[in-house]
Amino acid sequence: MSVMEIRSAADSRLRAMPKVELHCHVEGTARASTVAELATRHGVPLGVDDPDDLYTYGSLADFLNAFGVVCSAFVEPADFHRLAYEAAEDAAAAGTRYREMFFSPGFHLDRGVPFHVMWEGLASGVADGETDHGVRTRLILDVDKPKGIGPAMALLEVARTLDRDLLIGIGGDSTERGLDHHIFEPLIAEAKNLGLKTCFHCGEDGPAENIEIMVEAGVDRIDHGTRLLDLPDLARRVIDAQIPLTSCPSSNVEIGIVESLESHPFDEQRVAGALVTLNSDDPAFFRFDLADEYERIAAVFGYDHEAMVSIRDNAIDASWLDDTDKAALRAEFAG
Ligand code: HPA
Ligand code: ZN
Repeated sequence: MSVMEIRSAADSRLRAMPKVELHCHVEGTARASTVAELATRHGVPLGVDDPDDLYTYGSLADFLNAFGVVCSAFVEPADFHRLAYEAAEDAAAAGTRYREMFFSPGFHLDRGVPFHVMWEGLASGVADGETDHGVRTRLILDVDKPKGIGPAMALLEVARTLDRDLLIGIGGDSTERGLDHHIFEPLIAEAKNLGLKTCFHCGEDGPAENIEIMVEAGVDRIDHGTRLLDLPDLARRVIDAQIPLTSCPSSNVEIGIVESLESHPFDEQRVAGALVTLNSDDPAFFRFDLADEYERIAAVFGYDHEAMVSIRDNAIDASWLDDTDKAALRAEFAG
């Protein structure tokens, strides 16, 4: 066997490994070809000749701008069905079997797309994606943090009425810059009252202090948490409580949060005992999938297959499945 053959055998082993993903935005899975087709159908200007050009940026602000443009192509229930369905099809190709996936109503409501249009399309797309591609998906409603607490609480009122077999949690995304995260304390408290799980993007383009605020607020998971080790006492607390981090190292490189995968704190966090998981964040935007992320991280940090299995198992532990379902997943993956 040549070195290349050995390497590709290792790669396909990681691709075939059954996986769980906890940090992926459904809009971030939108294929450029689908966005282009729907934009033409609905007469929505994308502002580029080649839709692939949408997926280039040098910062989180650029990224969020592109994210908004991509969202604008989705108008009817059938569009959201297709979005969720293709997300499942692409996830299956990466070996993903179970996913807790964000959707971002703020970006769609802003354009006059009613909540039920989005929800009905996503719900049916998730169901058909599971039937046809074997990817089980549950949804997390992500509020757009810069809009503030008012719109976030209004979305929580809508969430109250949704099917809890599908909607399992509330999160928050977009930039941390210029935002006092204390304002989201009532959102987390009320979501918990409603029996929803909670998570928040923090310590991504903002400081570890934002992680501390959200930990104090009682979130069940930290999305990114890249800056966690900047505050050693907080890190100790997060590690002791095994509050999971949904890490997205390649996303952090693409958006310019860290300079390179080599300099990403993922390994340091793992060695320190944090419950780290690997995730793709926005796979279509970054042109890689979860299997690629596993392969890159294994290569960069020199992890053997056993280490990658343990990182995958962290995602089962960190998921919001109940203990019976977690045990069933572990047995299924071992079989
Ligand atoms: N960070 C902030 N907002 C986002 C992201 C992210 O990684 N992906 C989609 N919205
Ligand atoms: Zn994200």
